[in-house]
Amino acid sequence: MKRIGVLTGGGDCPGLNPVIAGVVRKAMALNWEVVGVMNGWKGLLEKNTMKLDRQAISGIVHKGGTIIRTSRTNPCKSKEQMDQVIENFKEMGLDALVAVGGDDTLGAAAKLYEHGLATVGVPKTIDNDISGTDRTFGFDTAVNTAMDAIDKLHTTAESHSRVMIVEIMGRHAGWITLYAGMAGGADVILIPEVQMTVDEVCEIIKKRHGRGKNFSIVAVSEGATLGGEEMITKDMPKDEFGHVILGGIGERLAKIIQNETGIETRNVVLGHLQRGGSPSALDRFIGLRFGIKAVELIEQGDFGKMVALKGNDFVPITIAEAVSVNRTVEPELFDIARLFFE
Ligand code: F6P
Repeated sequence: MKRIGVLTGGGDCPGLNPVIAGVVRKAMALNWEVVGVMNGWKGLLEKNTMKLDRQAISGIVHKGGTIIRTSRTNPCKSKEQMDQVIENFKEMGLDALVAVGGDDTLGAAAKLYEHGLATVGVPKTIDNDISGTDRTFGFDTAVNTAMDAIDKLHTTAESHSRVMIVEIMGRHAGWITLYAGMAGGADVILIPEVQMTVDEVCEIIKKRHGRGKNFSIVAVSEGATLGGEEMITKDMPKDEFGHVILGGIGERLAKIIQNETGIETRNVVLGHLQRGGSPSALDRFIGLRFGIKAVELIEQGDFGKMVALKGNDFVPITIAEAVSVNRTVEPELFDIARLFFE
């Protein structure tokens, strides 16, 4: 019998609870014990856990968020902390750990694995920007939330003859903006991977209005920049992984578009709404399967690996490979989106 831990780190994401349920169900089938490490890596530094049994996971699959909480604690900030994590892991009687997280959480898992921690990873982010996997859970739910918002913005934009900007999450990659923008029928899409100038954006809007349309919708990723400018950040402290808080590109665009086109323009920031709420059916299904596969990797002693979704298969890849570089939107895909501009 084994005793394994599971933690969720970084920004929360719809589908985390299904992953936890998948881990526990598979472990139960093997007659293993599971503990939830509370608040991400912080829980390993503080030896803070909760028992995850049949009762604990009852009814959680449809719930957003994570029952074992999360934090942006970086356990690799110092050698002392890393040693502490490894020592606590042993003292807590753990045989292995499932780390569910994005680049930062998985990056820490890769380092700790090199220092002897028996860990496997599951890729989590609404941003869908982890390499080596076709998709991450949480992305589908976030896309649907953003698409619903764009649908709703159409009616108010049309009633008021306005341009509506919608600022969507996506730090390095514009996946949510591109998918939701295309599905929702945005007239211009701006993402971090492709630079557009203010003139190009205004030209598209002017042409559209010149054809008799009285409103336009612009979908913009929070990490997008305008022709050569820097990313717009908030004047707030960085997190433990050194990330600045993004936000403000929508507001900036709204001012410029209103000035340049003379059309009244408003901005909406979707923010953390995109991370909240119940996971979609797809995110529940793949979340459960990511969790089950993680336990299978532990069973096989295949540590230092992350579960990746390739086609319909859940397969192991090295965590180091997954976190080496962000998976960004290919220019060819953006060219497809461009067909719908104007
Ligand atoms: O999970 C990634 C992300 O959604 C980014 O798109 C966004 O910049 C970030 O989280 C914001 O997270 P928080 O406000 O929790 O620090």
